[in-house]
Amino acid sequence: MPTVLMLAGSPSAVSRSSAVLQYVHAQLTHDFITVDTLHVRNLDASELLWANSKGATIEPALAQVERADGIVLACPTYKAAYSGILKTFLDLLPQRAFQNKVILPIMTGGSATHTLVIDYALKPVLSAMGDPRVLRGIYLLDGQIDHSQPEQVRFTDDDIKHRLDKEIEHFLQALQVMI
Ligand SMILES: Cc1cc2nc3c(=O)[nH]c(=O)nc-3n(C[C@H](O)[C@H](O)[C@H](O)COP(=O)(O)O)c2cc1C
Repeated sequence: MPTVLMLAGSPSAVSRSSAVLQYVHAQLTHDFITVDTLHVRNLDASELLWANSKGATIEPALAQVERADGIVLACPTYKAAYSGILKTFLDLLPQRAFQNKVILPIMTGGSATHTLVIDYALKPVLSAMGDPRVLRGIYLLDGQIDHSQPEQVRFTDDDIKHRLDKEIEHFLQALQVMI
């Protein structure tokens, strides 16, 4: 049975990208999948900053990544790239940590200026970490996400919901091919 890791890279407690991740999680109801969750913001800050890979919160998190066959990675756009907190965690992973995994990248941002952030910023880093199968992914604008009701994210734009659902479908297909 494949394991999917929901990896959240926002430092914020109330987070749009994490709300989208929660939506994806709710769609992964297939009996053949085990779903695991990791919010980088819940890891110990000093262990992250000082790259303590043996830290009490980091070691189990690294094991979660290792166990995963597929990863849904959701992260906000910060200064035209991914969040710094996500990078502190990626830097703790082994160089080829994503080898043989399928990754669905999801990023959110305040403006359309950085629509291609997944392609120019995130994908090169993921690829350098073992050349995983990285799907096209999806960039959502803040205005397209209504997360005012915790536990129940809504999309203000039918097209973006449709595209996200398609990405989830591709992710599931890729996962079945990989296992
Ligand atoms: C420090 C910081 C930097 C940001 N930089 C950008 C940016 O460069 N481009 C952009 O479109 N949005 C930027 N934003 C907006 C966030 O990407 C956006 O609100 C995102 O959806 C927040 O996700 P979260 O709620 O999951 O943290 C920035 C927000 C913060 C707090």
